[in-house]
Amino acid sequence: MKILSIDTSCDDTCVALLQVKKNNFKILSNVISSQVKLHAKYGGVYPSLAKREHQKNLPLVFKKVIKGCDMSKVDLIGVTVGPGLEPCLWQGINFAQNLARQFKKPLILVNHLEAHILGNWLDNRKIFLPAICLVVSGGHTQLILMDRIGKYRVLGETRDDAAGECFDKVARILGLGYPGGPIISKIAATAKKSKIVLPRPMISQKNYDFSFSGLKTAVLYKYRSQSAKTRKSKKYIQEMCLEVQQAIIDVLIKKTIKAAKDYHIKSIVLGGGVAANEELRKQFKKKAKEAIPDSKLYIPDFKFCTDNAAMIGVAAFFARSRKTKEIKANANLKI
Ligand code: KG4
Ligand code: ZN
Repeated sequence: MKILSIDTSCDDTCVALLQVKKNNFKILSNVISSQVKLHAKYGGVYPSLAKREHQKNLPLVFKKVIKGCDMSKVDLIGVTVGPGLEPCLWQGINFAQNLARQFKKPLILVNHLEAHILGNWLDNRKIFLPAICLVVSGGHTQLILMDRIGKYRVLGETRDDAAGECFDKVARILGLGYPGGPIISKIAATAKKSKIVLPRPMISQKNYDFSFSGLKTAVLYKYRSQSAKTRKSKKYIQEMCLEVQQAIIDVLIKKTIKAAKDYHIKSIVLGGGVAANEELRKQFKKKAKEAIPDSKLYIPDFKFCTDNAAMIGVAAFFARSRKTKEIKANANLKI
C-alpha cells in the first residue's frame, strides 16, 4: 500500500510518500519546505504569510515527492485537519481534496497530535501498549494515556504556554531569533553550569498539568534586572539558556515519570518538536531507567520529532478505516 500525506498545520509545507507492507513503513519520499527564514523577522509564525507560502509551495513539494511514482499507484491520501493555524490547514485540505477527487482516492483526515505520537511507529519497532505519551510541540504540551492506537485519554496539559512556545518566547526575550528551541539548546550546550536559578512550575503538584508562562516571565524579570553590559555578555546568555532548558526538562521528565508510575505503565512515548532536544532525550533515558528499571522509552528520530508528513502518513494508515466526518479545518482539534 502507498500513502501520500500532507501537513500544512504551521509554517512547514510537508508532503511524504510511504509504502506500507505488513504494518511496516518505508519512507519513499519525505520533503519539507521550511518557512523559518521568512517568519524569523517577526519572531514567530505570521499566519497570512504562512498561508500564502503553502499555496505557492504545495504544488512544487508535491511534484518533488511524487517524482518517479504514478498517482495511480497511490492507495490513499492523508491530510492534517487540525490542530494548527486554520488558514494554513485549509491549504493542505483543499490541495489533498483536489488530488483525491482527480485521482479517485480515499481521503483520510489526520489529527496532528496523534501523528506526533505515531511518528514513533516509523522505525518499525514493536511498541508495547498501553503507553504514557508526552506530546511537546510549539502549541501543545500534553500527557496522554494511550491504551491502543486510536484510544487516548488526556491526563494533563499545559494551562498556558506550551514547552516549545516557552523556548520560542525566551529566545525572543534574549534576542536570539526564531525558532527558540534549537537555538537555546545549541547555546546551552556551550555552558558548563549556571548560577541563575529559575522556577520549575507545578513540578511537585499532584496532577499532570503544566504551566510555562511563569517561567518565561521569570526569565524576563531576571534579564531586565541586569545591567546592559551583563545582558549582552556571552556568559550570561549561555547560563540563562542552560537554566531555562533544564527547568523545562526537569518538569517534563518528573511529570511524565509520575504518570507512568501512577498508571503502572512501562512504555513512555515522546513526540513533537521539543522531543528533538538532545539534553531532554539524554536525561529522559537516564531518569526513566532509574525510576522504572524495566521501562521502555520511545522517541522518534530527530527529523521526525519536528513537523513532517511521514508521521501524517503513519497516522493516515492507522485511521484508514475510521469513519470520515465532515472535511474541514479544525484549529483546536483535540486528541
Ligand atoms: O512539532 P513542531 O515542529 O511544531 C508544532 O506542532 O508546533 O514543534 C515546534 C516547536 C518549536 O517551539 C521549537 O522551538 C521546538 O519545537 N523545538 C525545540 C527543538 N527543536 C524544535 N525545542 C527544544 N529543543 C530543540 N532541539
Ligand atoms: Zn507539530
